[in-house]
Amino acid sequence: MEKETLSLLDNRTGKSCEVPLFKGALRAMDLRQFKTPTDDFGMMTYDPAFMNTASCQSAVTFIDGDKGILRYRGYPIEQLAENCTFLEVSYLILFGELPTAAQLTEWTNKITHHTMLIETTKKFLEGFRYDAHPMGMFISSVAALSTIYPEARNVRDPEVRALQIQRLIGKVPTIAAYTYRHSLGYPYIYPDNDLSYTENFMNMLWKMVEPKYRSNPVLARALDILFILHADHEQNCSANVMRSVGSSQADPYVSVAAAAAGLSGPLHGGANEEVLKMLDEIGSKEKVPAYIQNVKAGHGKLMGFGHRVYKNYDPRARIIKQAADQVFGVTGRNRKLDIALELERIALEDEYFIKRKLYPNVDFYSGIIYQAMGFQPEIFTVLFAIPRTVGWLAQWKELLEDPEQKIARPRQIYTGYDVREVVPIEKRKPKAAPLAA
Ligand code: ACO
Repeated sequence: MEKETLSLLDNRTGKSCEVPLFKGALRAMDLRQFKTPTDDFGMMTYDPAFMNTASCQSAVTFIDGDKGILRYRGYPIEQLAENCTFLEVSYLILFGELPTAAQLTEWTNKITHHTMLIETTKKFLEGFRYDAHPMGMFISSVAALSTIYPEARNVRDPEVRALQIQRLIGKVPTIAAYTYRHSLGYPYIYPDNDLSYTENFMNMLWKMVEPKYRSNPVLARALDILFILHADHEQNCSANVMRSVGSSQADPYVSVAAAAAGLSGPLHGGANEEVLKMLDEIGSKEKVPAYIQNVKAGHGKLMGFGHRVYKNYDPRARIIKQAADQVFGVTGRNRKLDIALELERIALEDEYFIKRKLYPNVDFYSGIIYQAMGFQPEIFTVLFAIPRTVGWLAQWKELLEDPEQKIARPRQIYTGYDVREVVPIEKRKPKAAPLAA
């Protein structure tokens, strides 16, 4: 049987030792015994951007980036997208098993009864400028919920945690819909408890003067599938923020707000908005080759392409492409699809993209579907944040239940000055100040 250890030799001192591996990984703390001189703090690992560092153990999501595999709790994403609803998948992600019919009814009932916002939150939202970016409104409003539920600070209590999880999943579509209506200047629509999670979201987005909102079932299902695909993605940038902020025992509202802030950047969930801007900038199929040449020459990136983990096709992008056909059957074809298809075709044949293993990611096609459904690009990342709230909460719950976790606090390699004396201001000489902002 092979030995689950690693032999280490410090060539500076000649010290050697054999350390046990933990599930195939080296525990970074085992390096601390290597010191020179002997009163030194001990050796650290250096890993900017966490390229090769596991920060936790997790049983939620499995990704094999080389094979293009994504599973929630062991179930392939393709099967979940085909057979389940978003609330079913949320239950799975949070509690580890798919619900029975009775469990799903109870779960749906709990979420449905937490969709309302306190009126002051509505007023808070009204205070934003007419052209406020929906993601900024979303982040601030989720954080503001912390002021309404102060008991949420008691994060060590499993019952308190469970209640905040239900509240957050129930309320994020309501906040998201309000940010959308605000930008249009339309009155807010209250939740309708007769409707499914996704249908109710559509109701709050698009109901006008009709007494009862009826969504198109094809579009409602497509949105539900998009929610399933976006629900979790293991230790990505925003999940890492959720865990990092949550590790200080901050309450889940401010922690989710922080995670949503991480999501908002153009290299993460903000990419879907950027893809649409890029397609607009390209303008027509004929201009795609020139655009790609420009990217290869180092002028910007192909938004919606590339992934830290997937070095094969992103399986979510494949499912989204299928959902797109169904959506376009209802809405008519988005002409940007032709530009996107051409972009994908040329990029996938190009040496630059092949060599770097750059494939379309989840954001490449999602924006085109959202736009066909009637959403403006500014709201795309908010549409991502609704389902990802479930993933953030599952990561947060797992963190708090893990006895090995503590407050997240990385180390650094200090590169600044050694100690120096403060010179009185009248004696200071101007210097090139590399640290000045
Ligand atoms: N277009 C052109 N070149 C790219 C792209 C791209 N989209 N992505 C990476 N590259 C190039 C880099 O310039 C680099 O080239 P080099 O080796 O010649 O320097 C090489 O590919 C490796 O790229 P890194 O930046 O080191 O890859 P990393 O894993 O750090 O970044 C990321 C991954 C952030 C997703 C990156 O591919 C990117 O910026 N993509 C565009 C934004 C995007 O679509 N983000 C959404 C990701 S999915 C999600 O978060 C939901």
